[in-house]
Amino acid sequence: AVVSAKEMLLKAHKEGYGVAQININNLEWIKAVLTTVEELKSPVILGVSEGAAKYMGGYKNVMAMVRTLDEHYNVSVPVAVHLDHGTYEGAYKALEAGFTSIMFDGSHYPFEENLAKTKEIVKACHAKGVSVEAEVGSIGGEEDGVIGAGEIADPKECAAIAATGVDMFAAGIGNIHGTYPPNWKGLDFEVLAEVQRVTGGVPLVLHGGTGIPEEMVKKAISLGVSKINVNTELQLAFAAATRKYIEEGKDRQGKGFDPRKLLNPGYEAIKQTIREKLEMFGSVNKA
Ligand code: G3H
Ligand code: ZN
Repeated sequence: AVVSAKEMLLKAHKEGYGVAQININNLEWIKAVLTTVEELKSPVILGVSEGAAKYMGGYKNVMAMVRTLDEHYNVSVPVAVHLDHGTYEGAYKALEAGFTSIMFDGSHYPFEENLAKTKEIVKACHAKGVSVEAEVGSIGGEEDGVIGAGEIADPKECAAIAATGVDMFAAGIGNIHGTYPPNWKGLDFEVLAEVQRVTGGVPLVLHGGTGIPEEMVKKAISLGVSKINVNTELQLAFAAATRKYIEEGKDRQGKGFDPRKLLNPGYEAIKQTIREKLEMFGSVNKA
């Protein structure tokens, strides 16, 4: 069932587990997430970047596909459709198209502007029962053209943004989009604990979930993280399985070139990655 992210995150925060945000790209991705979360009775957040929405034919088509598939597969678990790293304009377009959750990423604006725009977007979204995520400090690396410096969040700024009434809060704590370099210093748990303290218990979001070791994920959850975003890891799993199929020449055997066959190993690989994440985050049977 398509719902806002608010309740599922409050429950996760209270009960001490994380809800996965799995970023989607196309039909295979949406099917893989919806069928897997239903099998494991887990809540989930579908992350949609502006680039992915454009690729899928626009915000309205994303909502049409998700709602239709949600109904087709009798999905009973809560599913939020969330704009990922939204711009100011993108946030309004996604809201208009019926997204049930919005991230306004104003982290690249001067702080006062991030604050003012977040406040305005919270008001517009809450009027429609749509949950909002804000960000302070930036996530390192690049995601879909959104480049971050990896700047650690300032707790004073976090407190002010959280006071706008956002439902979930992302802070840069040394996390990076994409794969982590071998010399990565790890998450800054001191800043994370401080951010949770000054934000008054709002569920926190951990971006850059690809490849974060299990102990760090668990520690982050214990310090208030209730949503963990994963994108690159599924893309890598899909690409590796597809490569294997083609390198083994399976597309040249019988009707192996049929897209329904050609895309199947990648599809199964995405499902397996999702299962592992839901188990690691502790959201299995929490729907
Ligand atoms: O917003 C989405 C993410 O933070 C995903 O990061 O591609 O490193 O898993 P990732
Ligand atoms: Zn992110």
